[in-house]
Amino acid sequence: MPSFASVTAAASLVMMTLFAGESAAASFPSGNSTIASWAAGQSDISLGKMFTSINPEGSAPGFLAASLSTSDPDYYYSWTRDSALSFRVLVDQLDAGSNSTIDNYIKDYIKYSQNAQSTSTVCNCLGEPKFNADGSSFTGAWGRPQNDGPAERASTLILYSNISGGSDDLKTMIYKDLDYVTSTWDNQNFDLWEEVNGRHFFTYMVMRRGLLDGVDYATKNGDSDKADSYKSTAANVEKRIDSFWQSDHITITIDQAGGVSKGSGLDTAVLIAANVGSRKDGFYTPGSEKVLATAVKIESAFADLYTLNKNKPDGLGTAIGRYPEDVYNGNGSSQGNPWFICTNAFAELYYRAISEWIDAGSVKVTDISKPFFAKFDSKADTGTTYTAGSEEFNNLVNNIANSADQFLSTVHNYQNQNGSLSEQYNRDDGKMQGAYDLTWSHASTITAIKAKGGSPAL
Ligand SMILES: *[C@@H]1O[C@H](CO)[C@@H](O)[C@H](O)[C@H]1NC(C)=O
Ligand SMILES: *[C@@H]1O[C@H](CO)[C@@H](O)[C@H](O)[C@H]1NC(C)=O
Ligand SMILES: *[C@@H]1O[C@H](CO)[C@@H](O)[C@H](O)[C@H]1NC(C)=O
Ligand SMILES: *[C@@H]1O[C@H](CO)[C@@H](O)[C@H](O)[C@H]1NC(C)=O
Ligand SMILES: *[C@@H]1O[C@H](CO)[C@@H](O)[C@H](O)[C@H]1NC(C)=O
Repeated sequence: MPSFASVTAAASLVMMTLFAGESAAASFPSGNSTIASWAAGQSDISLGKMFTSINPEGSAPGFLAASLSTSDPDYYYSWTRDSALSFRVLVDQLDAGSNSTIDNYIKDYIKYSQNAQSTSTVCNCLGEPKFNADGSSFTGAWGRPQNDGPAERASTLILYSNISGGSDDLKTMIYKDLDYVTSTWDNQNFDLWEEVNGRHFFTYMVMRRGLLDGVDYATKNGDSDKADSYKSTAANVEKRIDSFWQSDHITITIDQAGGVSKGSGLDTAVLIAANVGSRKDGFYTPGSEKVLATAVKIESAFADLYTLNKNKPDGLGTAIGRYPEDVYNGNGSSQGNPWFICTNAFAELYYRAISEWIDAGSVKVTDISKPFFAKFDSKADTGTTYTAGSEEFNNLVNNIANSADQFLSTVHNYQNQNGSLSEQYNRDDGKMQGAYDLTWSHASTITAIKAKGGSPAL
């Protein structure tokens, strides 16, 4: 969080620049100060909660429980996806300042993952979704394979390798995961929610990021064959990704082979994909037109769906779930609810979009993105260009930041006031439900808050 003094300093800098007759410097909007002070404390609480999910007593080192809940529901497993995205948050913390506690957790994660890559699994493949506390694989019936996991893990390991200086073990692990992605990228597989077999926007996005991170990594290591192979696969993945656009939104799944059906095609996983899967290169990034158009459609679907949203107090953002047709209540099937990771995804998307436009120096409204910009500036029209630092730009991004803050206010409002965050909060009364202290709920809160500060997580 910028201190009050630095905000004042930034404001006077802007004025000096204006007196000099130049365009004003663009600074990240400071937003709602009440939610900013909550955020500073919650970030520490959430990090502490993440620590308690790692290496719980009796587990193999590096085991990260999706939640410590062992019954109704039993989430006491290490999912490759949840672990990769959670440990990425810890790598990001390490990037901000060395910390031996965090470094040791990550080293344990590497050991746990190394074992997971070679232990026997039902799918006999790296797409095995979840592992037990002792490091062995889960062998019961499950939606498998889930091919996003190895790609997410590769990106996390590459980031850590860059910070730590790397090792031969890490290199072997990274290439193992990315070679798997290269050979399986277009196979039908289960989605991140573990319910649908098909081809998924989310999975392709994290694969593309993993592969392109891998191109940089392999190039740096002089492994040009690997770099070429990952680069050509990424190009094929990009063509696939382009095929998910459906006139006004990105659909979540194509070529569905089984699992729950989603008539709307709308799924917040598209936005999570933009947050964790894009590479700040404009390709389906949070500030890009098709992602923003999809955000508009998703928000209105949930605004109409939940009682909680129909009776929404001023100052709160729309409560957001996974997808409108969801029936999973956190323990069984009845009615789906809003999720903390999904509500956080909106906040993070908006903050990341603002950073992107500040970095780019401007943002231009298109036919596709107009429904998004029109929510925040009634004068927005196709072709309108907002130049970073201009009054119009500042008004626009202030409105968007306030809206992002309202999503965080929703998280704050429905969490337990002791800082706990379960998986879901009830669609009618807002009470938390589902697995308690879901590790990913905390990880997503940390990254949303980080993005609010104007420097999104790695
Ligand atoms: C969770 O589901 C199980 C079995 O489906 C059921 O027995 C139990 O009562 C449920 N618990 C809660 C808290 O809903
Ligand atoms: C590492 O970070 C955590 C969380 O911020 C903090 O509690 C701990 O004191 C730090 N440890 C070290 C060794 O720096
Ligand atoms: C790797 O670290 C260097 C600084 O040590 C940084 O400039 C670079 O952007 C990092 N690369 C990635 C892929 O994070
Ligand atoms: C600022 O955040 C607080 C705390 O969440 C909320 O109560 C208040 O309504 C927000 N203010 C605005 C203008 O959104
Ligand atoms: C925080 O609240 C949750 C949910 O009500 C509860 O289960 C948990 O025990 C509380 N934790 C602490 C440290 O008070």
